[in-house]
Amino acid sequence: MSLFEHHMLKEIMEQPAVLAALVERSKGLLEGDGGGLFSGEGASCERILFLACGTSYHASLAGKWMIEALAGLPCQVEYAHEYRMSARLPLEHCLAVGLSQSGETRDSLEAMQKAREAGARTLAICNVENSTATRLAHAAFLLGAGPEKAIASTKVFAAQFAAVFLLALHLGVVRGRLPREWLEKHLQAFAALPDKMRQVLEEGGFVQEMALALREAGHLLVIGKGPAYPIALEGALKLKETAYLHAEGFAGGEFRHGPMALVEPRIPSLMLMPSLPQEGFELMKGTLGEIRRSGGPLWVLTQKPLEPGEGMRVHTLPEADLFLSPLLFVAPLQLLAYRLACGRGLNVDSPRALCKAVTSDPQGSL
Ligand code: G6P
Repeated sequence: MSLFEHHMLKEIMEQPAVLAALVERSKGLLEGDGGGLFSGEGASCERILFLACGTSYHASLAGKWMIEALAGLPCQVEYAHEYRMSARLPLEHCLAVGLSQSGETRDSLEAMQKAREAGARTLAICNVENSTATRLAHAAFLLGAGPEKAIASTKVFAAQFAAVFLLALHLGVVRGRLPREWLEKHLQAFAALPDKMRQVLEEGGFVQEMALALREAGHLLVIGKGPAYPIALEGALKLKETAYLHAEGFAGGEFRHGPMALVEPRIPSLMLMPSLPQEGFELMKGTLGEIRRSGGPLWVLTQKPLEPGEGMRVHTLPEADLFLSPLLFVAPLQLLAYRLACGRGLNVDSPRALCKAVTSDPQGSL
């Protein structure tokens, strides 16, 4: 099979088009009724609860960051399987958002059902039309990313990320928190995203170099702060799923509370440094300095200029709205997972022990 026959690569490359289609739909938010994107959902809720698994969980974490900042609503993100088993608490005035590529993941469906029974209004955000999640929820938003064949989700993650951004804007508007000029500003930034994503996908040199360097690696520490934290988790998941590399994602500030002890010359790290406000960026630079002093090989993706230094490779990404920047960081990580998996001779589209949607609980018998 030639490289271009791999669904994963094709789907990674489709991301600018998937985003462009959502840019078109986002114009509806400028209409009085929100253009039917999310109808009136969330206008009177007091909190948001995301329920999801895997990649969809990471998009939900991004959603929490955006909804709290743009709509001023407290937001909680739960692994659907953990929520299923948690104490049954009332959920009045809560919008429970089930995020699922397939809309068929058993844990997510059970969790949404539980939230609905506890009094929440439910919204499914899915890529598959007429999936069980869309029928179970009070309302649904379809991502429209087209079929995703590779097991590791890439273009649907981009669509989910964009959808939760639009949901955050919608909530900001219906709750009177987001003035029109700010809505327009965010939508303009969103409209510029597909081209920036295309540019990032075309600059493959850094990824290729990193894939070669990591070919024999057993571990990778991926560190991201603020909006880049969910991307650190998502990038690490892609690397596990497709390249069978033990990669772990960490929150920038948390890295100094234990994981730093792992850094030594045989353990490589990758830092994701979006254009955070100066204080956050300086904190990341401090962590970066500590990693270098510990002698760990270091790779950095940054949006603000950073001097390259010994033992450290730096690649600069285009600037974007802080809320949207994470998507520019995920593209190189997806490509890295793909290149590394190919370099290791693995079946990138159908990794071992995984399936596109986990529709049943594990068997109890040994
Ligand atoms: C499976 C897949 C993951 C996916 C997760 C959630 O575990 O292997 O890649 O992220 O399900 O799937 P969903 O369809 O609910 O988003």
